[in-house]
Amino acid sequence: MGRLHQDFNVEVPDPRLAIIDERLGGVKRIIVVASGKGGVGKSLIATTLSLLLARDGKKVGLLDLDFHGPSCHIILGATDAVPAEEMGLIPPVVQGVKFMSLVYYIGDRPLPLRGEEASNVFVELLTITRWGQLDYLVVDVPPGIAEEVLDIIRLIKRGEFLVVTTPSKLAVKTVARLVQLLQELKVPTLGLVENMHPPSSKIGKTGTFKANFLGRLPFDPEVEKTLGHPEELLKTHFARSLKRIVKKLGR
Ligand SMILES: Nc1ncnc2c1ncn2[C@@H]1O[C@H](COP(=O)(O)OP(=O)(O)O)[C@@H](O)[C@H]1O
Ligand SMILES: [Mg+2]
Repeated sequence: MGRLHQDFNVEVPDPRLAIIDERLGGVKRIIVVASGKGGVGKSLIATTLSLLLARDGKKVGLLDLDFHGPSCHIILGATDAVPAEEMGLIPPVVQGVKFMSLVYYIGDRPLPLRGEEASNVFVELLTITRWGQLDYLVVDVPPGIAEEVLDIIRLIKRGEFLVVTTPSKLAVKTVARLVQLLQELKVPTLGLVENMHPPSSKIGKTGTFKANFLGRLPFDPEVEKTLGHPEELLKTHFARSLKRIVKKLGR
């Protein structure tokens, strides 16, 4: 799908979209971890998911597209790694995962991108990154159901969405809107994960969602001190619960 050319009102194909398809050509499955909300654990889940898949012998890439607050590099402890330039960018391998992030562009600066600019940054990163052959590419995306998420649907055509919520009523309504949007746009959705479930509570709010329920992840106070130490992270209750969900993702 191209964009409407503003002067002529005709649709001109964006050649970069074909390049993105080519760049992702060697990737078997693309899992997009999304939520209508921020702070629900998308980055933690995306990063842990990529580590679990890599430990299971899969070839895995992790792409952090959250320009509001890229954070996968912190969870991975990827402090020194940088991409290599060779007819594009080759992601460094961190903890067995090929890792690419907007943080390599923006560092710790705030990035007040809007609309078209944000779109161009996504396109740029997807166009220059050379993933090679992968079994899985896991993508961490910004919160919301605004333009950025629509862009990701448009740019990463084979993306299968893994939707994250928490049991809080502050998350549930917003996340339900994302699920509805994905259904309306006929975007493949793997299902819903409920994160930060309080250990004592057996009640889930997932009845609100018309999505395949994949399971709950406990709120785990041990997680915080393992950030930046993937081996320790993988030993937590949180990671072990996520491993059970990964088994449901199939193939
Ligand atoms: N199940 C969990 N148990 C404990 N802390 C969690 C859990 N899930 C997420 N967190 C913490 O909550 C905060 C928000 O998570 P993050 O992955 O950054 O959310 P998002 O990417 O959706 O904004 C982080 O400090 C993260 O470590
Ligand atoms: Mg995040």
